[in-house]
Amino acid sequence: MRPRTLRARLVAGVLVLLAFACATIGVAASLVLERFMVERLDQQLSMTVGRFAASLEHGEGNARRADSRGQSVGTLGVRFAGGRVTDAAVVASTTVDNTGLTLSDADAAVLAAVPVDGCGHTVELSALDDYRVMSITGADGDVLITGLPLEGVNATVHRLQFGEAVVFAVVMTVAGVAGAIWVRLSLRPLERVAATARRVSTLPLSSGEVALPDRVPDEDPRTEIGQVGAAFNRMLGHVGEALARRHASEQRMRTFAADAGHELRTPLATIRAHVELARRNPGDVPEEVAHALERIDAESSRMGTLVDDLLLLARLDAGRPLARDQVDLTRLVIDATGDARVSGPGHHWRLELPEEPVTLVGDADRLYQVVVNLLGNARAHTPPGTTVTASVRVPDPGRAELTVTDDGPGIPEELQGEIFERFVRADKARSRALGGSGLGLAIVKAVVAAHVGTTAVESRPGRTVFRVTLPISG
Ligand SMILES: Nc1ncnc2c1ncn2[C@@H]1O[C@H](COP(=O)(O)OP(=O)(O)O)[C@@H](O)[C@H]1O
Ligand SMILES: [Mg+2]
Repeated sequence: MRPRTLRARLVAGVLVLLAFACATIGVAASLVLERFMVERLDQQLSMTVGRFAASLEHGEGNARRADSRGQSVGTLGVRFAGGRVTDAAVVASTTVDNTGLTLSDADAAVLAAVPVDGCGHTVELSALDDYRVMSITGADGDVLITGLPLEGVNATVHRLQFGEAVVFAVVMTVAGVAGAIWVRLSLRPLERVAATARRVSTLPLSSGEVALPDRVPDEDPRTEIGQVGAAFNRMLGHVGEALARRHASEQRMRTFAADAGHELRTPLATIRAHVELARRNPGDVPEEVAHALERIDAESSRMGTLVDDLLLLARLDAGRPLARDQVDLTRLVIDATGDARVSGPGHHWRLELPEEPVTLVGDADRLYQVVVNLLGNARAHTPPGTTVTASVRVPDPGRAELTVTDDGPGIPEELQGEIFERFVRADKARSRALGGSGLGLAIVKAVVAAHVGTTAVESRPGRTVFRVTLPISG
Protein backbone atom coordinates (compact mmCIF):
# COMPACT_ATOMS: atom_id res chain seq x y z
CA MET A 1 0.00 0.00 0.00
CA ARG A 2 3.03 2.35 0.04
CA PRO A 3 2.77 5.06 -2.63
CA ARG A 4 4.89 4.23 -5.65
CA THR A 5 5.59 7.42 -7.51
CA LEU A 6 7.71 10.20 -6.15
CA ARG A 7 4.74 12.49 -6.73
CA ALA A 8 2.40 10.44 -4.55
CA ARG A 9 5.07 10.11 -1.91
CA LEU A 10 5.70 13.84 -1.74
CA VAL A 11 1.99 14.64 -1.46
CA ALA A 12 1.49 11.95 1.17
CA GLY A 13 4.47 13.26 3.14
CA VAL A 14 3.19 16.83 3.05
CA LEU A 15 -0.26 15.69 4.18
CA VAL A 16 1.14 13.66 7.06
CA LEU A 17 3.20 16.63 8.24
CA LEU A 18 0.21 18.93 7.88
CA ALA A 19 -2.02 16.55 9.84
CA PHE A 20 0.59 16.42 12.58
CA ALA A 21 0.80 20.23 12.67
CA CYS A 22 -3.00 20.55 12.75
CA ALA A 23 -3.31 18.02 15.55
CA THR A 24 -0.64 19.78 17.60
CA ILE A 25 -2.23 23.20 17.09
CA GLY A 26 -5.66 21.81 17.91
CA VAL A 27 -4.58 20.12 21.13
CA ALA A 28 -2.51 23.12 22.22
CA ALA A 29 -5.34 25.56 21.51
CA SER A 30 -7.95 23.57 23.44
CA LEU A 31 -5.54 23.05 26.35
CA VAL A 32 -4.75 26.76 26.55
CA LEU A 33 -8.42 27.70 26.31
CA GLU A 34 -9.46 25.17 28.93
CA ARG A 35 -6.76 26.31 31.27
CA PHE A 36 -7.65 29.95 30.83
CA MET A 37 -11.32 29.31 31.56
CA VAL A 38 -10.61 27.13 34.57
CA GLU A 39 -8.35 29.84 35.96
CA ARG A 40 -11.18 32.33 35.63
CA LEU A 41 -13.47 29.87 37.37
CA ASP A 42 -10.92 29.53 40.17
CA GLN A 43 -10.77 33.32 40.54
CA GLN A 44 -14.54 33.41 40.78
CA LEU A 45 -14.44 30.59 43.33
CA SER A 46 -11.82 32.22 45.50
CA MET A 47 -13.92 35.41 45.65
CA THR A 48 -16.96 33.65 46.95
CA VAL A 49 -15.49 30.61 48.62
CA GLY A 50 -17.10 29.62 51.89
CA ARG A 51 -19.81 32.21 51.77
CA PHE A 52 -22.61 30.00 50.47
CA ALA A 53 -21.40 26.91 52.26
CA ALA A 54 -21.17 28.81 55.54
CA SER A 55 -24.65 30.15 55.11
CA LEU A 56 -25.95 26.59 55.04
CA GLU A 57 -25.13 26.25 58.67
CA HIS A 58 -27.79 28.73 59.68
CA GLY A 59 -30.50 26.87 57.87
CA GLU A 60 -29.59 23.74 59.70
CA GLY A 61 -31.84 20.94 58.54
CA ASN A 62 -33.52 23.24 56.08
CA ALA A 63 -31.28 24.30 53.20
CA ARG A 64 -34.02 26.45 51.77
CA ARG A 65 -33.05 29.17 54.07
CA ALA A 66 -29.46 29.22 53.11
CA ASP A 67 -28.13 32.48 51.72
CA SER A 68 -27.83 32.24 47.97
CA ARG A 69 -27.54 35.93 47.30
CA GLY A 70 -24.68 36.87 45.02
CA GLN A 71 -24.17 33.25 44.03
CA SER A 72 -24.38 32.25 40.41
CA VAL A 73 -26.62 29.43 39.23
CA GLY A 74 -25.16 25.98 39.77
CA THR A 75 -22.97 26.97 42.70
CA LEU A 76 -22.45 24.01 45.01
CA GLY A 77 -22.04 24.40 48.73
CA VAL A 78 -21.10 21.57 51.08
CA ARG A 79 -20.30 21.71 54.73
CA PHE A 80 -18.33 19.02 56.50
CA ALA A 81 -18.21 18.82 60.19
CA GLY A 82 -16.22 16.11 61.92
CA GLY A 83 -15.65 14.34 58.62
CA ARG A 84 -19.37 14.08 57.86
CA VAL A 85 -21.45 16.01 55.40
CA THR A 86 -23.79 18.12 57.42
CA ASP A 87 -25.24 20.26 54.67
CA ALA A 88 -25.18 20.34 50.87
CA ALA A 89 -27.02 22.54 48.38
CA VAL A 90 -26.95 23.82 44.79
CA VAL A 91 -28.13 27.23 43.66
CA ALA A 92 -30.93 26.41 41.26
CA SER A 93 -31.70 29.94 40.18
CA THR A 94 -31.10 33.42 41.52
CA THR A 95 -34.78 34.05 42.05
CA VAL A 96 -35.98 30.72 43.36
CA ASP A 97 -34.53 29.46 46.59
CA ASN A 98 -31.68 27.03 46.41
CA THR A 99 -32.26 23.31 46.39
CA GLY A 100 -31.05 20.96 49.03
CA LEU A 101 -28.90 18.15 47.83
CA THR A 102 -28.40 14.66 49.14
CA LEU A 103 -24.93 13.43 48.37
CA SER A 104 -24.18 9.78 47.91
CA ASP A 105 -21.44 8.24 50.00
CA ALA A 106 -19.14 8.04 46.99
CA ASP A 107 -19.63 11.72 46.17
CA ALA A 108 -19.12 12.61 49.83
CA ALA A 109 -15.87 10.65 49.81
CA VAL A 110 -14.72 12.43 46.65
CA LEU A 111 -15.44 15.80 48.25
CA ALA A 112 -13.84 14.80 51.52
CA ALA A 113 -10.65 13.98 49.62
CA VAL A 114 -10.35 17.52 48.24
CA PRO A 115 -7.34 19.14 49.97
CA VAL A 116 -8.30 22.00 52.23
CA ASP A 117 -5.90 24.48 50.66
CA GLY A 118 -8.04 27.21 49.07
CA CYS A 119 -7.05 26.14 45.56
CA GLY A 120 -9.28 24.95 42.71
CA HIS A 121 -9.69 21.19 42.12
CA THR A 122 -11.66 19.33 39.49
CA VAL A 123 -13.98 16.56 40.76
CA GLU A 124 -16.49 14.27 39.15
CA LEU A 125 -19.70 13.85 41.09
CA SER A 126 -22.33 11.31 40.21
CA ALA A 127 -25.15 13.57 41.36
CA LEU A 128 -23.91 16.52 39.34
CA ASP A 129 -21.60 17.04 36.37
CA ASP A 130 -17.92 17.89 36.57
CA TYR A 131 -17.26 20.56 39.15
CA ARG A 132 -14.42 22.84 40.07
CA VAL A 133 -14.33 22.94 43.86
CA MET A 134 -12.39 24.83 46.48
CA SER A 135 -12.18 23.86 50.10
CA ILE A 136 -11.41 26.04 53.15
CA THR A 137 -11.63 25.68 56.89
CA GLY A 138 -14.59 27.48 58.38
CA ALA A 139 -14.56 29.69 61.45
CA ASP A 140 -15.66 26.92 63.80
CA GLY A 141 -13.26 24.28 62.46
CA ASP A 142 -15.62 22.73 59.95
CA VAL A 143 -14.71 22.33 56.27
CA LEU A 144 -16.55 24.46 53.74
CA ILE A 145 -16.53 23.45 50.09
CA THR A 146 -17.71 25.69 47.30
CA GLY A 147 -17.99 24.47 43.72
CA LEU A 148 -18.81 25.86 40.29
CA PRO A 149 -19.90 23.69 37.34
CA LEU A 150 -17.35 22.98 34.60
CA GLU A 151 -20.15 22.52 32.11
CA GLY A 152 -19.61 25.91 30.46
CA VAL A 153 -15.88 25.32 30.15
CA ASN A 154 -16.36 21.89 28.62
CA ALA A 155 -18.98 23.14 26.19
CA THR A 156 -16.73 25.94 25.01
CA VAL A 157 -13.74 23.61 24.60
CA HIS A 158 -15.85 21.09 22.67
CA ARG A 159 -17.09 23.83 20.43
CA LEU A 160 -13.55 24.95 19.74
CA GLN A 161 -12.52 21.36 18.98
CA PHE A 162 -15.40 20.90 16.60
CA GLY A 163 -14.55 24.16 14.85
CA GLU A 164 -10.93 23.09 14.61
CA ALA A 165 -11.86 19.72 13.15
CA VAL A 166 -13.95 21.35 10.43
CA VAL A 167 -11.29 23.93 9.58
CA PHE A 168 -8.51 21.34 9.56
CA ALA A 169 -10.47 19.00 7.32
CA VAL A 170 -11.00 21.81 4.82
CA VAL A 171 -7.34 22.85 5.05
CA MET A 172 -6.15 19.26 4.52
CA THR A 173 -8.38 18.79 1.48
CA VAL A 174 -7.31 22.05 -0.11
CA ALA A 175 -3.66 21.37 0.72
CA GLY A 176 -3.92 17.84 -0.72
CA VAL A 177 -5.36 19.01 -4.03
CA ALA A 178 -3.13 22.07 -4.31
CA GLY A 179 -0.09 20.03 -3.24
CA ALA A 180 -0.78 17.35 -5.83
CA ILE A 181 -1.06 19.97 -8.58
CA TRP A 182 1.99 21.81 -7.39
CA VAL A 183 4.14 18.68 -7.11
CA ARG A 184 3.00 17.59 -10.56
CA LEU A 185 3.99 20.93 -12.02
CA SER A 186 7.34 20.92 -10.22
CA LEU A 187 8.17 17.43 -11.41
CA ARG A 188 7.19 18.01 -15.01
CA PRO A 189 10.76 18.84 -16.09
CA LEU A 190 11.88 15.56 -14.52
CA GLU A 191 9.33 13.73 -16.65
CA ARG A 192 10.80 15.38 -19.72
CA VAL A 193 14.26 14.19 -18.71
CA ALA A 194 12.87 10.69 -18.17
CA ALA A 195 11.13 10.71 -21.56
CA THR A 196 14.33 11.72 -23.32
CA ALA A 197 16.30 9.07 -21.43
CA ARG A 198 13.73 6.47 -22.44
CA ARG A 199 14.02 7.48 -26.08
CA VAL A 200 17.82 7.21 -25.95
CA SER A 201 17.62 3.82 -24.26
CA THR A 202 15.64 2.39 -27.17
CA LEU A 203 18.12 3.56 -29.81
CA PRO A 204 20.37 0.97 -31.43
CA LEU A 205 23.65 2.54 -30.39
CA SER A 206 25.86 -0.42 -31.14
CA SER A 207 26.50 0.25 -34.81
CA GLY A 208 26.11 2.57 -37.72
CA GLU A 209 25.17 6.22 -37.71
CA VAL A 210 22.94 7.13 -34.78
CA ALA A 211 20.69 10.18 -34.58
CA LEU A 212 20.34 11.08 -30.91
CA PRO A 213 17.02 12.62 -29.85
CA ASP A 214 16.63 16.28 -29.01
CA ARG A 215 18.17 17.58 -25.85
CA VAL A 216 16.13 18.01 -22.69
CA PRO A 217 14.67 21.54 -22.82
CA ASP A 218 16.83 24.00 -20.94
CA GLU A 219 15.84 24.32 -17.32
CA ASP A 220 16.87 26.57 -14.49
CA PRO A 221 20.33 25.27 -13.54
CA ARG A 222 19.76 26.38 -9.94
CA THR A 223 17.17 23.64 -9.40
CA GLU A 224 18.15 20.02 -8.89
CA ILE A 225 16.07 18.89 -11.85
CA GLY A 226 17.66 21.59 -13.98
CA GLN A 227 21.07 20.23 -12.99
CA VAL A 228 20.04 16.69 -13.88
CA GLY A 229 18.74 17.94 -17.23
CA ALA A 230 21.91 19.90 -17.93
CA ALA A 231 24.13 16.95 -16.97
CA PHE A 232 22.01 14.67 -19.12
CA ASN A 233 22.34 17.05 -22.05
CA ARG A 234 26.09 17.17 -21.62
CA MET A 235 26.19 13.39 -21.48
CA LEU A 236 24.10 13.16 -24.65
CA GLY A 237 26.53 15.56 -26.26
CA HIS A 238 29.50 13.38 -25.33
CA VAL A 239 27.77 10.21 -26.44
CA GLY A 240 26.79 11.82 -29.72
CA GLU A 241 30.34 12.96 -30.30
CA ALA A 242 31.73 9.52 -29.50
CA LEU A 243 29.23 7.86 -31.82
CA ALA A 244 29.98 10.29 -34.61
CA ARG A 245 33.69 9.64 -34.18
CA ARG A 246 33.15 5.90 -34.23
CA HIS A 247 31.06 6.21 -37.35
CA ALA A 248 33.70 8.37 -38.99
CA SER A 249 36.45 5.91 -38.12
CA GLU A 250 34.37 3.01 -39.38
CA GLN A 251 33.83 4.94 -42.58
CA ARG A 252 37.57 5.66 -42.83
CA MET A 253 38.40 2.03 -42.24
CA ARG A 254 36.03 0.96 -44.99
CA THR A 255 37.28 3.54 -47.41
CA PHE A 256 40.82 2.49 -46.62
CA ALA A 257 40.07 -1.18 -47.22
CA ALA A 258 38.35 -0.38 -50.50
CA ASP A 259 41.16 1.92 -51.63
CA ALA A 260 43.84 -0.56 -50.60
CA GLY A 261 42.01 -3.29 -52.50
CA HIS A 262 41.87 -1.17 -55.63
CA GLU A 263 45.51 -0.10 -55.34
CA LEU A 264 46.70 -3.67 -54.81
CA ARG A 265 44.77 -5.13 -57.67
CA THR A 266 46.89 -3.80 -60.56
CA PRO A 267 50.36 -4.67 -59.18
CA LEU A 268 49.05 -8.05 -58.09
CA ALA A 269 47.72 -8.78 -61.55
CA THR A 270 51.10 -7.81 -62.98
CA ILE A 271 52.98 -10.09 -60.56
CA ARG A 272 50.72 -12.99 -61.40
CA ALA A 273 51.04 -12.42 -65.10
CA HIS A 274 54.83 -12.42 -64.82
CA VAL A 275 54.92 -15.52 -62.66
CA GLU A 276 52.67 -17.23 -65.13
CA LEU A 277 55.03 -16.25 -67.92
CA ALA A 278 58.11 -17.40 -66.03
CA ARG A 279 56.59 -20.73 -65.18
CA ARG A 280 55.48 -21.34 -68.72
CA ASN A 281 59.11 -21.01 -69.90
CA PRO A 282 60.95 -23.10 -67.34
CA GLY A 283 64.24 -23.30 -69.35
CA ASP A 284 66.97 -24.62 -67.17
CA VAL A 285 66.36 -22.66 -63.99
CA PRO A 286 67.71 -24.22 -60.82
CA GLU A 287 65.38 -26.21 -58.61
CA GLU A 288 65.22 -23.47 -55.93
CA VAL A 289 64.15 -20.85 -58.44
CA ALA A 290 61.38 -23.09 -59.75
CA HIS A 291 60.23 -23.62 -56.17
CA ALA A 292 60.36 -19.90 -55.46
CA LEU A 293 58.23 -19.22 -58.53
CA GLU A 294 55.74 -21.79 -57.33
CA ARG A 295 55.54 -20.11 -53.93
CA ILE A 296 55.11 -16.68 -55.51
CA ASP A 297 52.31 -18.09 -57.63
CA ALA A 298 50.51 -19.66 -54.65
CA GLU A 299 50.89 -16.66 -52.36
CA SER A 300 49.91 -14.14 -55.01
CA SER A 301 46.77 -16.07 -55.81
CA ARG A 302 45.97 -16.15 -52.10
CA MET A 303 46.53 -12.43 -51.95
CA GLY A 304 44.27 -12.08 -54.95
CA THR A 305 41.50 -13.82 -53.02
CA LEU A 306 42.04 -11.49 -50.09
CA VAL A 307 41.89 -8.43 -52.31
CA ASP A 308 38.76 -9.75 -53.99
CA ASP A 309 37.18 -10.30 -50.57
CA LEU A 310 38.06 -6.79 -49.48
CA LEU A 311 36.62 -5.32 -52.65
CA LEU A 312 33.48 -7.40 -52.37
CA LEU A 313 32.94 -6.21 -48.80
CA ALA A 314 33.54 -2.64 -49.87
CA ARG A 315 30.95 -3.02 -52.61
CA LEU A 316 28.43 -4.52 -50.19
CA ASP A 317 29.14 -1.72 -47.71
CA ALA A 318 28.48 0.83 -50.39
CA GLY A 319 25.11 -0.81 -50.96
CA ARG A 320 25.70 -1.57 -54.64
CA PRO A 321 22.66 -3.32 -56.10
CA LEU A 322 22.88 -7.10 -56.36
CA ALA A 323 22.08 -9.16 -59.41
CA ARG A 324 18.54 -10.49 -59.42
CA ASP A 325 18.87 -14.01 -60.80
CA GLN A 326 16.52 -16.91 -60.38
CA VAL A 327 18.70 -18.99 -58.04
CA ASP A 328 18.22 -22.69 -57.40
CA LEU A 329 19.56 -22.99 -53.86
CA THR A 330 19.56 -26.80 -53.97
CA ARG A 331 21.67 -26.83 -57.12
CA LEU A 332 24.05 -24.32 -55.53
CA VAL A 333 24.55 -26.49 -52.47
CA ILE A 334 25.07 -29.65 -54.56
CA ASP A 335 27.73 -27.93 -56.66
CA ALA A 336 29.54 -26.36 -53.71
CA THR A 337 29.57 -29.65 -51.81
CA GLY A 338 30.94 -31.38 -54.86
CA ASP A 339 33.82 -28.90 -54.93
CA ALA A 340 34.38 -29.32 -51.22
CA ARG A 341 34.52 -33.08 -51.60
CA VAL A 342 37.38 -32.63 -54.03
CA SER A 343 39.36 -30.20 -51.88
CA GLY A 344 38.62 -32.01 -48.63
CA PRO A 345 38.75 -35.74 -49.34
CA GLY A 346 39.51 -36.46 -45.66
CA HIS A 347 36.09 -35.21 -44.52
CA HIS A 348 32.70 -36.88 -44.83
CA TRP A 349 30.35 -34.71 -46.83
CA ARG A 350 26.62 -35.21 -46.50
CA LEU A 351 23.64 -33.52 -48.14
CA GLU A 352 20.11 -33.12 -46.84
CA LEU A 353 17.88 -31.67 -49.51
CA PRO A 354 14.12 -31.42 -49.97
CA GLU A 355 12.38 -33.28 -52.80
CA GLU A 356 11.53 -30.13 -54.66
CA PRO A 357 14.22 -27.65 -55.65
CA VAL A 358 14.19 -24.45 -53.61
CA THR A 359 14.45 -21.36 -55.78
CA LEU A 360 14.65 -17.73 -54.87
CA VAL A 361 15.58 -14.43 -56.44
CA GLY A 362 19.06 -13.22 -55.65
CA ASP A 363 22.68 -12.85 -56.69
CA ALA A 364 23.75 -16.38 -57.72
CA ASP A 365 27.52 -15.73 -57.55
CA ARG A 366 27.35 -14.14 -54.13
CA LEU A 367 25.09 -16.85 -52.73
CA TYR A 368 27.42 -19.48 -54.13
CA GLN A 369 30.22 -17.75 -52.28
CA VAL A 370 28.23 -17.91 -49.05
CA VAL A 371 27.91 -21.69 -49.36
CA VAL A 372 31.56 -22.08 -50.36
CA ASN A 373 32.74 -19.99 -47.39
CA LEU A 374 30.67 -22.00 -44.92
CA LEU A 375 31.75 -25.35 -46.35
CA GLY A 376 35.35 -24.11 -46.58
CA ASN A 377 35.30 -23.23 -42.88
CA ALA A 378 33.86 -26.61 -41.97
CA ARG A 379 36.77 -28.16 -43.83
CA ALA A 380 39.57 -25.79 -42.78
CA HIS A 381 38.77 -25.48 -39.09
CA THR A 382 38.02 -29.14 -38.34
CA PRO A 383 40.32 -32.17 -38.46
CA PRO A 384 40.01 -34.80 -41.22
CA GLY A 385 37.35 -37.38 -40.49
CA THR A 386 34.82 -34.75 -39.51
CA THR A 387 31.34 -35.13 -40.93
CA VAL A 388 29.93 -32.00 -42.57
CA THR A 389 26.26 -31.82 -43.45
CA ALA A 390 24.85 -29.20 -45.79
CA SER A 391 21.08 -28.97 -45.74
CA VAL A 392 18.35 -26.88 -47.31
CA ARG A 393 14.87 -26.63 -45.84
CA VAL A 394 11.78 -24.52 -46.28
CA PRO A 395 10.61 -24.11 -42.68
CA ASP A 396 7.69 -21.97 -43.81
CA PRO A 397 6.55 -20.75 -47.20
CA GLY A 398 8.43 -17.54 -47.87
CA ARG A 399 11.63 -18.61 -46.15
CA ALA A 400 14.49 -20.86 -47.17
CA GLU A 401 16.96 -22.12 -44.60
CA LEU A 402 20.47 -23.26 -45.36
CA THR A 403 22.51 -24.93 -42.62
CA VAL A 404 26.05 -26.22 -42.55
CA THR A 405 26.64 -28.52 -39.60
CA ASP A 406 29.86 -30.21 -38.54
CA ASP A 407 30.91 -32.36 -35.59
CA GLY A 408 34.30 -30.69 -35.24
CA PRO A 409 35.85 -29.01 -32.19
CA GLY A 410 33.59 -25.95 -32.37
CA ILE A 411 34.14 -22.23 -31.87
CA PRO A 412 35.20 -20.85 -28.47
CA GLU A 413 32.19 -19.52 -26.57
CA GLU A 414 33.57 -16.01 -26.10
CA LEU A 415 34.12 -15.61 -29.85
CA GLN A 416 30.70 -16.69 -31.02
CA GLY A 417 29.20 -13.23 -30.58
CA GLU A 418 31.67 -11.58 -32.94
CA ILE A 419 32.57 -14.41 -35.27
CA PHE A 420 30.83 -12.66 -38.17
CA GLU A 421 32.95 -9.54 -37.73
CA ARG A 422 35.85 -8.80 -40.06
CA PHE A 423 39.23 -10.37 -39.29
CA VAL A 424 37.89 -12.32 -36.31
CA ARG A 425 39.54 -15.73 -36.08
CA ALA A 426 39.71 -18.16 -33.21
CA ASP A 427 43.23 -19.35 -33.79
CA LYS A 428 45.03 -16.64 -35.69
CA ALA A 429 48.29 -18.45 -36.29
CA ARG A 430 46.65 -21.65 -37.46
CA SER A 431 44.02 -20.11 -39.65
CA ARG A 432 46.59 -17.80 -41.27
CA ALA A 433 48.69 -20.83 -42.09
CA LEU A 434 45.58 -22.33 -43.67
CA GLY A 435 45.20 -19.25 -45.81
CA GLY A 436 42.31 -17.77 -43.92
CA SER A 437 42.00 -14.02 -43.63
CA GLY A 438 39.05 -13.81 -41.24
CA LEU A 439 36.84 -12.23 -43.90
CA GLY A 440 34.89 -15.34 -44.91
CA LEU A 441 32.08 -15.07 -42.38
CA ALA A 442 31.96 -11.28 -42.70
CA ILE A 443 31.22 -11.81 -46.38
CA VAL A 444 28.59 -14.42 -45.55
CA LYS A 445 26.88 -11.98 -43.21
CA ALA A 446 27.10 -9.03 -45.61
CA VAL A 447 25.78 -11.00 -48.59
CA VAL A 448 22.92 -12.50 -46.60
CA ALA A 449 22.07 -9.09 -45.11
CA ALA A 450 21.99 -7.65 -48.65
CA HIS A 451 19.41 -10.35 -49.44
CA VAL A 452 17.43 -9.28 -46.34
CA GLY A 453 18.23 -12.61 -44.67
CA THR A 454 19.69 -13.57 -41.30
CA THR A 455 22.80 -15.42 -40.20
CA ALA A 456 23.31 -17.27 -36.94
CA VAL A 457 25.77 -19.65 -35.38
CA GLU A 458 25.49 -22.07 -32.53
CA SER A 459 28.49 -24.07 -31.54
CA ARG A 460 29.72 -26.44 -28.88
CA PRO A 461 32.44 -29.05 -29.12
CA GLY A 462 31.09 -31.77 -31.41
CA ARG A 463 28.39 -29.70 -33.06
CA THR A 464 28.69 -26.42 -34.92
CA VAL A 465 25.75 -25.13 -36.93
CA PHE A 466 25.80 -22.12 -39.24
CA ARG A 467 22.27 -21.18 -40.18
CA VAL A 468 21.32 -18.81 -42.98
CA THR A 469 17.73 -17.89 -43.74
CA LEU A 470 16.76 -16.14 -46.93
CA PRO A 471 13.39 -14.79 -47.98
CA ILE A 472 11.77 -16.45 -50.97
CA SER A 473 10.08 -13.52 -52.61
CA GLY A 474 8.09 -14.33 -55.73
N1 LIG B 1 32.99 -24.82 -38.73
C1 LIG B 1 33.86 -24.21 -37.90
N2 LIG B 1 34.43 -24.88 -36.87
C2 LIG B 1 35.30 -24.26 -36.04
N3 LIG B 1 35.65 -22.97 -36.15
C3 LIG B 1 35.15 -22.25 -37.16
C4 LIG B 1 34.21 -22.82 -38.08
N4 LIG B 1 33.84 -21.86 -38.94
C5 LIG B 1 34.53 -20.75 -38.60
N5 LIG B 1 35.31 -20.97 -37.52
C6 LIG B 1 36.15 -19.98 -36.84
O1 LIG B 1 35.71 -18.71 -37.26
C7 LIG B 1 36.80 -17.94 -37.71
C8 LIG B 1 36.36 -16.97 -38.77
O2 LIG B 1 36.00 -17.62 -39.96
P1 LIG B 1 36.19 -16.86 -41.31
O3 LIG B 1 35.55 -15.53 -41.18
O4 LIG B 1 35.70 -17.71 -42.42
O5 LIG B 1 37.74 -16.63 -41.36
P2 LIG B 1 38.86 -17.62 -41.85
O6 LIG B 1 38.20 -18.88 -42.31
O7 LIG B 1 39.50 -16.88 -42.95
O8 LIG B 1 39.75 -17.80 -40.69
C9 LIG B 1 37.78 -18.96 -38.18
O9 LIG B 1 39.09 -18.45 -38.13
C10 LIG B 1 37.60 -20.10 -37.20
O10 LIG B 1 38.35 -19.87 -36.05
MG1 LIG C 1 36.84 -18.95 -43.79
